[in-house]
Amino acid sequence: MRVLVLGSTGQLGREVVKQGKDRPYKIIKATRRDFDLLEDPEVIEEKMYELMQYTHPRVVVNCAAHTDVRGSEEHPDKAYQANMDGMRAVAVGFKRYAMLSSSLSPIFMHTSTDYVYNSLIDVHIGEKTCMAENPLNVYGRSKLMFDSYLRCFMNMESMVIRTSGLFSKHGNNIYNKIVHADKQLTFVGDGYNIPTSTMFVARVIWLFVDHYIKNNIQIVSYPLVHAVASMGDAAPSWYEFAEEVLKVAGLSTPLLKTTHAEMCAKTGVKVSQRSVVAHSFDDVCHTATEGLIVPTWKECIKEVFNS
Ligand SMILES: NC(=O)c1ccc[n+]([C@@H]2O[C@H](COP(=O)([O-])OP(=O)(O)OC[C@H]3O[C@@H](n4cnc5c(N)ncnc54)[C@H](OP(=O)(O)O)[C@@H]3O)[C@@H](O)[C@H]2O)c1
Repeated sequence: MRVLVLGSTGQLGREVVKQGKDRPYKIIKATRRDFDLLEDPEVIEEKMYELMQYTHPRVVVNCAAHTDVRGSEEHPDKAYQANMDGMRAVAVGFKRYAMLSSSLSPIFMHTSTDYVYNSLIDVHIGEKTCMAENPLNVYGRSKLMFDSYLRCFMNMESMVIRTSGLFSKHGNNIYNKIVHADKQLTFVGDGYNIPTSTMFVARVIWLFVDHYIKNNIQIVSYPLVHAVASMGDAAPSWYEFAEEVLKVAGLSTPLLKTTHAEMCAKTGVKVSQRSVVAHSFDDVCHTATEGLIVPTWKECIKEVFNS
């Protein structure tokens, strides 16, 4: 049984590949060299179709995305081109293959963000409950365009795993910025998030992959799974997160608290604030995620530090 991981060089993709090595599947790593999400969509579609034909995966896990939140405000075209047009072409290439597949249809597992699903209001989509879409910025809108397309128009075996504040020891993420800083750090005390380790999200992804493969399950546009750490007593501000990272890492880097308004004025980039939403697994998710321990964001920091 094969599992194809798109975006395998990113922080989540790397962890998905790493955890997949202990499993009885052949993991196939796809990178930007297989196709660039900024290419002509027709070219991407063809390349994805060929990749599917060549690898015959039972599951595709998509961790590829244009994730530069601030850059997306400055260059929205790039965000829409990659996260909307490019991803649509990937899905069309996937579906072309799936429609011709004589065995079980492959499943497309996509990853999304709290910049899209950022509301405390639950809405109903079909028979399922799902969080309201409320994109906060260009990045969120570009991701939403594809999520909606996948859910509403593709009619293919798919699910979306939504997470928030991903961090690990790899890549350009906030954890790395904190532990590698060689000068004073400044973080907002009035902006909140639920920082979540890539290890936890990869564990959730693999539980679903195992569940689908073991039980030969076919899913039709399963809407949304929230894979985020537990808040513990309260969701941390970015300042509190930085404080905890420095404590766990035993670092004494000076840390200054600022406000969201001050930060936007200083950088000249307006990035919307997020509200914080706890994870919720519904019945289907509970079956797949039985035995899963959801770590607190503080436990995520320790896990990443010790990795
Ligand atoms: N980071 C977060 O805080 C966060 C929070 C919530 C949800 N998410 C979602 O989680 C998923 C994984 O995020 P991540 O943090 O692992 O992102 P990441 O570390 O930035 O990795 C992104 C991956 O996408 C690839 N990629 C970027 N632009 C591409 C392009 N134009 N063409 C082809 N491939 C391209 C990158 O390839 P290269 O290595 O070649 O650049 C890399 O493999 C994404 O769907 C993201 O939206 C992230």
